[in-house]
Amino acid sequence: MQDKLKRTLPPCDGRRRASAMRSVLAWNQIHETETGEPRRVYMLTFGCQQNEADSEKLCGMAEAMGYAVTDRQEDADLILVNTCAIREHAENKALAAVGSFKELKKVRPDLIIGVCGCMTSQDHRRETIKQSYPYVTFVLGTSSLHQFPAVLWDCIDRRRRMMLPEHPDDVSGGIAEGIPTHRASDYRAWVSIMYGCNNLCSYCIVPYVRGRERSRNRQDIIDEVRELVAKGYKDITLLGQNVNSYGKGLAEPCSFADLLEALDAIPGDWWLRFMTSHPKDADRRLIDVMAKGTHIVPTFHLPLQSGSDPILKRMNRHYDRQSYLDTVAYMKQRLPRLTLTSDIIVGFPGETDEDFEATLDTLRTVEYDMLFAFIYSPRVGTPAASMEQVDDAVKKARYARLLKVQEDISARRSASLEGQTLKVLCDGPSRTDPSVFTGRTPGNRSVFFTGTPGMTGRFLSVHIDRTEPYALWGTVIQ
Ligand code: 5AD
Ligand code: SF4
Repeated sequence: MQDKLKRTLPPCDGRRRASAMRSVLAWNQIHETETGEPRRVYMLTFGCQQNEADSEKLCGMAEAMGYAVTDRQEDADLILVNTCAIREHAENKALAAVGSFKELKKVRPDLIIGVCGCMTSQDHRRETIKQSYPYVTFVLGTSSLHQFPAVLWDCIDRRRRMMLPEHPDDVSGGIAEGIPTHRASDYRAWVSIMYGCNNLCSYCIVPYVRGRERSRNRQDIIDEVRELVAKGYKDITLLGQNVNSYGKGLAEPCSFADLLEALDAIPGDWWLRFMTSHPKDADRRLIDVMAKGTHIVPTFHLPLQSGSDPILKRMNRHYDRQSYLDTVAYMKQRLPRLTLTSDIIVGFPGETDEDFEATLDTLRTVEYDMLFAFIYSPRVGTPAASMEQVDDAVKKARYARLLKVQEDISARRSASLEGQTLKVLCDGPSRTDPSVFTGRTPGNRSVFFTGTPGMTGRFLSVHIDRTEPYALWGTVIQ
């Protein structure tokens, strides 16, 4: 799949980006809107936390180019759709969203629409957009995120569409530092520590759309986290497709455990978390660093994918059920307040009833707090897409069964917290009922309680009165 892509976007260094940003800003200042108000950018994000983090950078760059961020698409002069490609459903949702902007473009012909992210890092999807969505102004893949100002400037200056192919695996430009970021929250923050993935799990599109693994310099990450803590951020999540391989290939190599230890030393009242870990690399030293940590929350997302060894082999996961269980046993021993979550794929090609039972059995053995389960979705260009597929009805029936098994486990795990007093980071009034406030525990469980506006973004002590499988209800005690 990759071979077909030729690199045609020129490498973008910081100077070229800064110059494009100045050009767009100047253009926006010279060409005033009818109302004299600044132009506006509307950002729509699909997919994972890495995509959320990328969107914050796209918004940050747009802001630096004179666009005000809006949450009303009908007010926008620039719409950015940051897409996901992990499953067919994710791509369909993104395409439907892009399709929904057709009418808006008719009413506002000057509207610029950019489609970015993982879906548009694939050759065939760029072609879909080019052919079937003529009102889209530009596409941008994940490896060209930092080129956004240059591409936007080209669209404005030359009044043309920019649909250039690119090569997600070409990382010759290195990692762009110093990109302005418009953070969605002023107390929770994402910090990407690495990009791409080298694992080539046979079902997964990520290595094809996010390219090879590359890590940010240790000091750049430490500086960013230090600055966030100084600004009052309370919950900082380190992001990477496989954080455990952080540091490989750096001029001064540094393991993920070392990085975590260095960050944990930053003083203040704040939480440090990370995702995602690959079970083959989640070593004991990392767990020991977590056990000793002050800020690192005892929370682990450790995707199992399947509890059957033959399936794990065909998934190219490089661990087996027993070694996974050994890692979990060590975590439970070293981290008594551990919250453990996982991802499962149901209906991977060739999955038999026996394989599926092995997965259910593993769920019962591990007792995850929460689980993210997905029905297998073939992805163009990945090895598993050409393996013998499981019947759709079988996949759906297994998925429903798995959810039921997990619901009972999650209910038991939640119930074990009843009567405890937990530290909770308050997110303010809930969307459905403003008199009920929400917050998150260190393990990322939702907690509901009666609150007051000044509590948003603060740590609270909450006594847990009642539990549901995926939510807790409590009373603030301070
Ligand atoms: N089909 C279904 N689920 C998938 N995932 C990754 N690729 C696929 C696919 N082709 C799931 C894995 C991964 C999570 C982010 O998405 O469980 O951990
Ligand atoms: Fe995130 Fe993977 Fe979806 Fe890209 S394809 S947005 S990396 S989940």
